[in-house]
Amino acid sequence: MQWSTALLLALTAPSSALIRFQCSQLVRERLDPLVSPGLVPSPHVHQIVGGNSFNATMEQAKDMPGESTCTTCQFSEDFSNYWTAVLYFRARNGTYKRVPQHANAGFDGSTGGGMTVYYMQDPLYDTAQKSKVTAFKPGFRMFVGDINARTKEQAAHFRQLTYTCMDDAGSREHETVAFPNHVCPYGIMTSTRFPTCWDGVNYDSPDHMAHMAYPVNGTFESAAPCPATHPVRTSQVMYEVIWDTSSFNDPNDWPEDGKQPFVWSFGDATGYGNHGDYVFGWKDQALQNILDTQCYASSCGGKQQSIADMNKCAGLKETVSEDIDGWLDALPGGHQAQYS
Ligand SMILES: *[C@@H]1O[C@H](CO)[C@@H](O)[C@H](O)[C@H]1NC(C)=O
Ligand SMILES: *[C@@H]1O[C@H](CO)[C@@H](O)[C@H](O)[C@H]1NC(C)=O
Ligand SMILES: *[C@@H]1O[C@H](CO)[C@@H](O)[C@H](O)[C@H]1NC(C)=O
Repeated sequence: MQWSTALLLALTAPSSALIRFQCSQLVRERLDPLVSPGLVPSPHVHQIVGGNSFNATMEQAKDMPGESTCTTCQFSEDFSNYWTAVLYFRARNGTYKRVPQHANAGFDGSTGGGMTVYYMQDPLYDTAQKSKVTAFKPGFRMFVGDINARTKEQAAHFRQLTYTCMDDAGSREHETVAFPNHVCPYGIMTSTRFPTCWDGVNYDSPDHMAHMAYPVNGTFESAAPCPATHPVRTSQVMYEVIWDTSSFNDPNDWPEDGKQPFVWSFGDATGYGNHGDYVFGWKDQALQNILDTQCYASSCGGKQQSIADMNKCAGLKETVSEDIDGWLDALPGGHQAQYS
């Protein structure tokens, strides 16, 4: 009896530091200041959230809290930029239409659907969230995934880049590494989890990944230690993006050969090329202060703003002018769906 009361308390009022918050969409276009800085347009379309000083260049010395006048994220001292590729539907006649996004349950009204961002000290199921983690520093950025991966073996280099086929807003089970191969009534969630062990020295690396590593075995979820090469334990950064596939769920519109119809903006129709980009931009010690506090989700203090205020920062003027919504004969940048 006592045990279940304690558990109930832990679930209803957890004393933990698991930061979870919504960001509205800042802009959606072909820019990628991390992988192809200065290139206008970049090779494929992204959807970007966070501080409004986002631009094509984003040098490491950029003062994101200083140069941004607002952010589309709930924590108003978070001027980081977070981005992913964009999902398209490929019709039987070979033309493409962009798939819109839903915000997570509880964040309705967030412009463009945006994304939900997490910073976790310990695995999600661990409500204590007590481990000490080091916050990222100005100039820090990272990438996870391989846009060229088209097989399960290639995708296996990355742990925890997944899809969830959603029956309803609460669906979280049966994550897959490939695109779901059947109709997902509510939509498809992509969960992008970054590595959690930092080399402690480099704020970036040529492939934007080598300065980070996974725990020695298992995943962050299995609470394994960091390797000696990358000894500094950071928080687990995770993005949840929900693609609202509901207007593309008629099986009569799906390929006749039994394949699924969704394709990433860079042409991947397998799903194995799932990837994400992160550029740190929290003000001063704001992130470390929250990570050092026992708190949960949006009860984590700090300075926060309403969804209406987040949305006021959305709609950054596009640098690249082109139709990215469809129906398009090719994905922006000239990509076509690749199935292998
Ligand atoms: C991006 O913003 C920086 C200031 O942070 C500016 O120096 C640079 O010229 C901008 N680059 C582009 C391509 O607009
Ligand atoms: C291709 O198919 C889509 C979806 O059925 C339709 O809306 C579009 O008009 C078609 N385009 C052409 C050129 O037939
Ligand atoms: C991971 O490695 C640690 C240390 O070598 C070991 O104690 C633990 O059992 C391993 N866990 C798994 C899931 O293999």
